[in-house]
Amino acid sequence: MHPTPTIGVFDSGFGGLTVLAALMRRMPNARYAFIGDTARLPYGSKSRRTVARYASESAQFLVREQGAEFLVIACNTASALALDAIQDAVPVPVLGVIEPGAAAAQAASQTGDVLVIATDATVHSHAYKAACAARNLRAYEKACPLLVPLVEEGWINHHVTDAVVRIYLGELTSDAAAAGMSADTLVLGCTHYPLLRSLIERAAPRGITVIDSAESTAEAAAHLINGQPGQVSPESSPQHTEIHCFATDSVDKFERLGSRFLGRPTGNVQLVDLGG
Ligand code: DGL
Repeated sequence: MHPTPTIGVFDSGFGGLTVLAALMRRMPNARYAFIGDTARLPYGSKSRRTVARYASESAQFLVREQGAEFLVIACNTASALALDAIQDAVPVPVLGVIEPGAAAAQAASQTGDVLVIATDATVHSHAYKAACAARNLRAYEKACPLLVPLVEEGWINHHVTDAVVRIYLGELTSDAAAAGMSADTLVLGCTHYPLLRSLIERAAPRGITVIDSAESTAEAAAHLINGQPGQVSPESSPQHTEIHCFATDSVDKFERLGSRFLGRPTGNVQLVDLGG
């Protein structure tokens, strides 16, 4: 691969910028092209076929128009439902977030019982359950469909979001306990949830380790691209990071809220039309 590779990253919206931020920390010397398919968000309530079509169009845009040599699907729903379809749609390596997330859960869990919160589509695909079972972990999954719109609204530290998180986690922990599980790990199986991490950590039962797949995905990507996981670079080290962001709708909102997910300004976001 080129010494300054072009890495394509995509999500249904701008939640995937949390994954881009982790990639940039680990591989600062790269050119990143990110597309958020904001016109067609949410993916989490759609069918496998529709998600596969939408995600493949984003993947093709990044490879054909932006010259991406490697793709990261920074969307749990697209990774869970459409990884194979996306791999078939483009001639470059493609990494999803489910396997790295399950690997991080395996590293964190002592009891072997893991809780997963995600969109409806991700939960119904049971992709996390399968990836955990392959590592001898038991997973209890719960859909939390209200969280994506709350984050998209920018209600990150809002009392309504706090109440919703507490209700979901209360139901999840009591249902998992009733099913005989003694979970010690909670996987944030949606790219929007890391923004709610502090609310989730406060609401989770004591002793639960919260896993965000962004870091483990960045580590896996660095391994595939450079043959080694790479180091998280200190903020002070020289960086030659180039970022180009694209969205299929609401460019202003992307620029305004995207910086929260990315941890720095997104720069000018360009509007693209991927079709209907
Ligand atoms: N990016 C999606 C995910 O990680 C959440 C938003 C959506 O439903 O499109 O599952």
